[in-house]
Amino acid sequence: MYAQLWCLCLAAVSALAADSPTLFNECLVPGDKKSAAETALLKRLEPLKNKRFEVTDTDGPDTYTYTLVICNRTLEDAKSTNEGLVQINKATSKTSVIGRINDTYVFNGSDWIMLVYRSGDPYGGHCDNEPRKAMIMISCNKNTLGDGFTIISEERNKSQDCFYLFEMDSSVACPIEDSHLSVGSVLLIVFAVLLALYIIGGFVYQRFVVGAKGIEQFPNITFWQELGNLVADGCDFVCRSRARSSETAYRGVGDDQLGEEPEERDDHLLPM
Ligand SMILES: *[C@@H]1O[C@H](CO)[C@@H](O)[C@H](O)[C@H]1NC(C)=O
Ligand SMILES: *[C@@H]1O[C@H](CO)[C@@H](O)[C@H](O)[C@H]1NC(C)=O
Repeated sequence: MYAQLWCLCLAAVSALAADSPTLFNECLVPGDKKSAAETALLKRLEPLKNKRFEVTDTDGPDTYTYTLVICNRTLEDAKSTNEGLVQINKATSKTSVIGRINDTYVFNGSDWIMLVYRSGDPYGGHCDNEPRKAMIMISCNKNTLGDGFTIISEERNKSQDCFYLFEMDSSVACPIEDSHLSVGSVLLIVFAVLLALYIIGGFVYQRFVVGAKGIEQFPNITFWQELGNLVADGCDFVCRSRARSSETAYRGVGDDQLGEEPEERDDHLLPM
């Protein structure tokens, strides 16, 4: 029996382990020593890892299709050269890697993340034939995990530091909210709602079913009146008992400070 349970437990653990690969992100930063901020950001990008984003650019003389994967490869491992963003010329099917995930930069602001893939294929003629580079601006959009991938511009009319600029929307770029309601406030809200339901429901019941008038419409009015009396009695007992029992002691100490204060002043507070 125990052995069976043990086996079941092991199977569950190994299933869990298989589901969560140790390498949470394939993006590599130069030098391969990620800072804490980079690690945190790459972790935030992880939900996008198995998505492909595509956009077709028909603006120039040629039509290009751009495919983006986030910290993953567009091709299967064997053929892959770590390409994270590729451009395909629709007419000639010529493929150029714009940026590779093993040369990633990532940084963020309050509601955006900038992902930069470098080490793309070299330009042929432009930009001193430097490697291509892709910049992907990911803006916060709470309504989508990933959408709206578009190319903004291709800057290649300079002699170096050219780049392709893209943008997309994603909820992973949204600021991490920590304004969750505390347990206490949830309980308070639930209590207030129940109280309101009780009073309104009771009122309706008393008025329309029982046919009560005036103060009698308040639900369980006799109970609450009795409870009120009980509370008053309790308060009377708790608040006054000490004053009564230590009356003499106080009088002894306080006589001179009290001055001309009349002694029968609190007599009317005593229960008759
Ligand atoms: C990234 O990977 C490509 C292809 O596997 C390789 O040629 C290149 O040297 C690598 N770049 C860096 C910065 O590691
Ligand atoms: C950038 O992301 C980090 C880690 O996810 C976060 O702690 C930080 O607040 C973000 N920066 C800004 C300016 O919001």
